[in-house]
Order: sequence, then C-alpha cells, then structure tokens
Amino acid sequence: MHKKQHLRSAVARQTEGVTLDHAAKVYDTLAPLMTLGLERRYHRIVIQRLALRGDERILDIGCGTGTLTRDLAAALTDKQTSLCTGLDAAEKMIEIAKRKAAGIPNIHFDAAIAERLPYEDNSFDAAVSTFFFHHIHFALKKKVLAETARVLKPGGRFIVVDVDTPSTWFGTLCARSGHWLFQQNEIAENIDGKLREAFDAGPFHWKAVSHHSGYITVFELTKSATP
Ligand SMILES: C[S@@+](CC[C@H](N)C(=O)[O-])C[C@H]1O[C@@H](n2cnc3c(N)ncnc32)[C@H](O)[C@@H]1O
Repeated sequence: MHKKQHLRSAVARQTEGVTLDHAAKVYDTLAPLMTLGLERRYHRIVIQRLALRGDERILDIGCGTGTLTRDLAAALTDKQTSLCTGLDAAEKMIEIAKRKAAGIPNIHFDAAIAERLPYEDNSFDAAVSTFFFHHIHFALKKKVLAETARVLKPGGRFIVVDVDTPSTWFGTLCARSGHWLFQQNEIAENIDGKLREAFDAGPFHWKAVSHHSGYITVFELTKSATP
C-alpha cells in the first residue's frame, strides 16, 4: 500500500505515482526552497524554449498548484484561441490551482492521472512537466511518455525539467539529500539515469538543453513530424 494512501484523493488512488494531496496547502511555500530559489527561473526557461506563437494549446503534466500553468497562460497572447491545461492526480493540488487561476480566460485544470491522459490524439501543440518525473517509477515514466506522444500533434515538443544524474559534488549532495529526506525511490531512479533510459526507450527524439545546480536538467523531447 502507498505510504500516505489514507490521505490520497480518489483520483490519486488510481496511480502508483507519488501524489501530493497531503502537501497541497504548503506546496507554494516549499517549492521555491526545494528548487534553491530557481523555480521561476525554470519556468522562464521552459517558456523561452517553447518560443510560443501565442495561440497554442499547451499541456502541463503534474502541474501541482499550477504556478507554471499560469505563467504559460500569461505568455499565450491570443486569449481567444489559446489554452493552457494543467493536469495533476492530486485533487487538492487542482483545487488550489483553480483558485489561483480564477478569472484567467485561457486556462483549464483537470484532476487525472498522467499515464491515462483524458485527451484526444494529436490535440496539443506542446507539453511541459517540471519536477514531475521523479514522482513516478520507471514503468510509469515510459507510460507517461507514450501518452504524451499520443496527445501531442506531429512535431510537437515536450519540455521536461527534472532531477538528473548529478554532475558535481554539490549536485550529488542536493539530489541524495532529496532522496534521503523524502525516502522516494523514484528520485534515486533519476539519479541513476533512469529518466534518460526511459527517454531512450520512448517515442521521442530527445536532447538535454541545459543543466543547473549540478543535478537538474532541462530536456527537450520532440515527436516525429511524420506518422
Ligand atoms: C513535485 S510536484 C511538481 C508540481 C509542479 N509541476 C511544480 O513544478 O511545482 C509533482 C506533482 O506530480 C503529481 N503526480 C504524481 N503522480 C502523478 C500521476 N501519475 N499523474 C498526475 N500527477 C501526478 C503530484 O501530485 C504532484 O503534484
């Protein structure tokens, strides 16, 4: 049984991923600390990388309280046609995300699991995920990649920011401390290179585009333009 099963919402119970209903209320206080103050910088990198036209449909997977989802919606300048959708399995995260986004026209949130996305094939121009992949084990990583490729249009890009194999002693210290603190085997998998292994086994072409604090990498994955 999942460690915090009794605290999980009905949707969260559908996944083996590490969901955060229990942390929803404190998440926005903790996230900047856990990213060493770089949370918003990662968001800016993701948005720059997407080089948006302004009218796209974007999916934010494992969106938490929807801070990046809101930044993306703001960057989508055509408020009539664009839409940024945030998805998370923790219903309490989604409740807070919806509250924070009240009044924003081009934003939408769904409580659902990433390994079974409730969207049609080829329905998004791009997808993003920040600090989500270290919450799901290797088999789920591969399922989520397959699902993301399914819902992206041909040529669509998926920008991922997550814990990676550390490259410095400081990065090793941060990554191993996170593993020790949260007792989360999924973090150890990322440290051991399993995220990259899942990318290799998946449907995307991928590359690492930048590396931060010695253990966080920004990846760009691209779906083939031809079926
Ligand atoms: C560390 S938080 C990241 C939130 C946000 N993207 C950010 O950068 O602050 C990871 C999120 O993944 C969610 N999650 C875990 N497993 C999931 C799954 N299978 N499907 C959807 N969301 C999941 C958790 O509930 C949690 O909100």
